[in-house]
Amino acid sequence: MLNLSTTKSKVNIMKIGILGAGFVGRAVAKLATRAGHQVMLSNSRGPQTLFSLKPMLGCETGTAAQAATFGDIVVIAVPLTAIGQLPVAELAGKPVIDAVNYYPERDGQVPELDQQATTTSEYLAGFLPGAKITKAFNAIRMTDLETDGLPAGDPQRRALPLAGDDAETKTIVAGLYDAFGFDTLDAGTLSEGWRFERGMPCYCVPMTRDELKTALEGAERGEL
Ligand SMILES: NC(=O)c1ccc[n+]([C@@H]2O[C@H](COP(=O)([O-])OP(=O)(O)OC[C@H]3O[C@@H](n4cnc5c(N)ncnc54)[C@H](OP(=O)(O)O)[C@@H]3O)[C@@H](O)[C@H]2O)c1
Repeated sequence: MLNLSTTKSKVNIMKIGILGAGFVGRAVAKLATRAGHQVMLSNSRGPQTLFSLKPMLGCETGTAAQAATFGDIVVIAVPLTAIGQLPVAELAGKPVIDAVNYYPERDGQVPELDQQATTTSEYLAGFLPGAKITKAFNAIRMTDLETDGLPAGDPQRRALPLAGDDAETKTIVAGLYDAFGFDTLDAGTLSEGWRFERGMPCYCVPMTRDELKTALEGAERGEL
């Protein structure tokens, strides 16, 4: 299940489109531009509302459709309630990072997720036919993402999980994790993403790679 060896990192300079310019969108944009990537941020209200972010982060801004078209890889960083409004055609065939988490008190009840009949990422995949989705950046607070990164090889280096069905997308995500200062732990297919959803033992808890492996393997569905 857990793949410790085959998801290697890849550090090519990329164009990264980001849908959502809140805590997640801004943190990923800041770290990605710092790592040399080109970023386009978007939100629901239009690029004119991101005017001051552009010089602050050194990124481009655009509509969600423009950011999806711009990205070699696209980060979905919106509330679950917004996933029905994403630019489906522009995301078809693209590597996509799913950072979305399910908070019923914010997002309303979603029966399939409440009954654990699916995972949040598979639920998102149902809205984005053809997108090559990897679940990543979900199980860390964005304040920590900006501060907890360490150089490769540091014994205290924190590891972050990912899950997905497309090996190439996972390799790209592992490269971003590494560039941001984190090890990668591959939890398996998209259907295994429940292992690091909200309420699971590793959710937003700093862990080394070995600790994360133990937490993911020991996770039990239904546990909160
Ligand atoms: N905050 C964290 O530490 C953290 C960590 C991991 C994962 N997450 C998850 O990541 C997602 C985003 O969290 P957040 O904290 O960044 O939320 P947030 O601060 O509330 O930001 C949400 C962003 O999504 C944008 N948005 C809404 N609908 C959109 C649409 N249709 N197209 C493009 N952009 C749209 C909003 O733009 P407008 O303001 O213009 O509507 C806003 O910029 C959530 O699912 C959250 O659970 C959060």
